[in-house]
Amino acid sequence: MTPQADSMQISKTDLTTRYESVFRSYLKGATEKDLAEAYELGRKAFAQDIGILEIVLLHHSALAGASSQGWQHNEVQRIAKLSGQFLAEVFSAYELGRRSYHDTVSSLRHLNELLEQELKRIAHAVHDEAGQLLVAAHLAMADVMCGATPRMRGRLRQVARLLDQAEKHLRQFSHELRPTVLDDLGLVPAIRFLANGVSKRTELPIRVTSSFNRRLPPAIEIGLYRVVQEALTNVTRHSRARNVRVELRRKGEKILCTVQDDGVGFDPQTVLSKNGKKGLGLIGIQERLNVLKGTFHVKSQSGRGSKLFITVPLGGG
Ligand SMILES: Nc1ncnc2c1ncn2[C@@H]1O[C@H](COP(=O)(O)OP(=O)(O)OP(=O)(O)O)[C@@H](O)[C@H]1O
Ligand SMILES: [Mg+2]
Repeated sequence: MTPQADSMQISKTDLTTRYESVFRSYLKGATEKDLAEAYELGRKAFAQDIGILEIVLLHHSALAGASSQGWQHNEVQRIAKLSGQFLAEVFSAYELGRRSYHDTVSSLRHLNELLEQELKRIAHAVHDEAGQLLVAAHLAMADVMCGATPRMRGRLRQVARLLDQAEKHLRQFSHELRPTVLDDLGLVPAIRFLANGVSKRTELPIRVTSSFNRRLPPAIEIGLYRVVQEALTNVTRHSRARNVRVELRRKGEKILCTVQDDGVGFDPQTVLSKNGKKGLGLIGIQERLNVLKGTFHVKSQSGRGSKLFITVPLGGG
């Protein structure tokens, strides 16, 4: 551990002792120095992921400890005020953290919007420009075909068939990249379209069921589409599953979505805490859902497949 990191750390026992001592000192002298120390203790506690509830209990016990000295009746109001000021100072770091979390979420939302615009641009480029090039390749081949021997023509027809396939795949990719069906028809048809494409490429049966077919706010439709897209990519890359099921339903004011496979399974805790090179998929899912105020968790057992549970509040878009 670096000396700098060392000076940041504080053990829970030290935190308790320091807190009680500074708190008492503040009740006596109400100095700025004590408040500065209160802020510092709050900052360290926040950096060490000590929860608000723990701080409140610590404060309560410090207050109870200080009150055992016995206060005059007329002092109680002053003590209550100082106690509140002290606690507010301790929580300053938490408040800053909360604000910066909201700033981060709003930057992420903005980034996602930029990303979607960029994906739209790439999808159009792949569709139109690559499509044009393939048409040009077909025309050039037709030209060559005229003067070719019958044997060469057979070979050229094979190449033309390959070009057709490449064109079909490029079209499918460009639609999946930013499916117009998502804008035109909504989330469920877009996920069916995506599942269909993945199934064709991988020969993995993917069943999509849904108990609703209404349009959702655009941010939720795009966010959930991307989450399911990454989940299906993971299934095809890692799970060795034989069957996949995507289910979408509405429960009150929430959309629930599950992606289940019957493959090898994995432990998300281990995967996410893995040192070194980590994947970006699950983190990306988490970040997309943060923006939508949604959540996800994975149920999985080795050899028994995985199930991703995604929840998004309808007001989250
Ligand atoms: N459905 C699944 N079945 C089995 N293992 C999975 C499944 N989904 C994820 N995993 C495991 O979780 C790991 C992390 O997934 P994540 O999507 O975060 O990264 P990645 O797929 O390895 O890389 P990236 O998504 O950045 O291309 C995977 O490497 C894999 O070991
Ligand atoms: Mg992945």
